Amino acid sequence: MIAIGSDHGGYELKSEVIKHLKERGIDVKDYGCDSTASCDYPVYADKVTQAVVSKECELGILICGTGIGMSMAANKVKGIRAALCSDCFSAKATKEHNNANILCMGARTIGPGLALMIVDTFLDTPFSEDERHIRRISMFD
Ligand code: RB5
Repeated sequence: MIAIGSDHGGYELKSEVIKHLKERGIDVKDYGCDSTASCDYPVYADKVTQAVVSKECELGILICGTGIGMSMAANKVKGIRAALCSDCFSAKATKEHNNANILCMGARTIGPGLALMIVDTFLDTPFSEDERHIRRISMFD
């Protein structure tokens, strides 16, 4: 199960990502927001990070205007490794090297086509399980 959340800036892209995941047959749980009305991104970062930390959901996706606020808020939570990605190379590398458990994106910084490719890359790339990466993650996790 994938947890997803956004603020108003990411609401429209979130809807596209949910549609895409459903088309791929991937279960997704939407933690809001529910419209483009102005709201506070930390509220939704909190909901999605709790879903991941509690293992209710395996991975999370957080979207705001830039992805920056969401990534800052998410990375305050112990056990969360949130990666702000605007390219597929980073989305692949952050799963392989950092075992990222939350993907953050900025709806105002990338187009929807690229965003869906980033989502696919993130979800389809496994953690490398390399000892050096496990060691480095354990140094800050
Ligand atoms: C909202 O206007 C905007 O600040 C928010 O979506 C996000 O970009 C914050 O980092």
